[in-house]
Order: sequence, then C-alpha cells, then structure tokens
Amino acid sequence: MKELLQVQNLRKTFKVSAKQQKVQKTKERIKVAVDQLSFCAYEGEVFGLLGPNGAGKTTTLRMMATLIKPDAGDILVAGTSVVKNPEVVRGKIGFLTSELKLEEFFTPNYLYDFFQNFTV
Ligand SMILES: Nc1ncnc2c1ncn2[C@@H]1O[C@H](COP(=O)(O)OP(=O)(O)OP(=O)(O)O)[C@@H](O)[C@H]1O
Ligand SMILES: [Mg+2]
Repeated sequence: MKELLQVQNLRKTFKVSAKQQKVQKTKERIKVAVDQLSFCAYEGEVFGLLGPNGAGKTTTLRMMATLIKPDAGDILVAGTSVVKNPEVVRGKIGFLTSELKLEEFFTPNYLYDFFQNFTV
C-alpha cells in the first residue's frame, strides 16, 4: 500500500509563559510536546492517534496542517514536506479541528490568507 502520511523524527517544543508556569505548577521554561515521533499511515486507511492528555496529539496534527512548524523532523503528506512546501500541503488537505489554538501572530488577515490555501 502507498504511504500517504510519513511522520519522521518529529519534535516540537513550546516556551512556557510565566502564566502557564503558575497554572501548571512548574518551573520548566520549555515544554517538549512531541519528541522523536515517527509513524506512517497508508492510503485508504483510517488512522487514529491515541494517547493520554498532553501526549502531543493535537500538536502533531497542527504540524501536519502546517499551522505550526516542527523544531526538527518532517511530515510528508502524499510526498510533500510540511517544512519545505507548506503551501502545497495546504492545497492537498482538509483540516477540521475542535481546537485551533490560535497563536499571537494569527491576525484575522493571516487566518484568511491561511485558509484560502486549503482545498474545499
Ligand atoms: N502553545 C503552547 N504553549 C505551551 N505549551 C503547549 C502549547 N501547546 C501545547 N502545549 C503543551 O504541549 C503538550 C502537548 O499538548 P497537546 O495539546 O498536543 O496534547 P494532546 O495529546 O492533544 O492532549 P489532549 O488529549 O488533552 O487533547 C501539553 O503539555 C501542552 O500543555
Ligand atoms: Mg488534543
């Protein structure tokens, strides 16, 4: 079967804000959300990503959807790299999420530009 989704040694960290440090009762400045994640999903397959709360599932999906960039590693969507060609990936996928998790640089205009690249 054809490999449709190739996740390769994916890593993503977040800076933990002072507010988050308080809420999460941690002094950690950096949160490793995804570390060394690799897997493959094949054409025609229904693929589920399971893990406990905070395991990094949504972060992985946000990287797949090109909403955020990996610190290291890559995801190939039907052969196209989310790191090298995010706009091409956006043209290939539809992405429906219950938690978009907006970043500070996501202005209304940025979001219009971003979603106009998706296939409808
Ligand atoms: N923007 C962010 N800033 C700081 N930490 C973040 C950010 N996004 C996610 N995290 C942290 O990264 C880790 C992974 O979060 P993520 O939302 O990917 O987990 P999840 O597997 O989707 O969890 P859930 O099952 O609760 O939806 C968590 O510890 C989370 O608090
Ligand atoms: Mg989640």
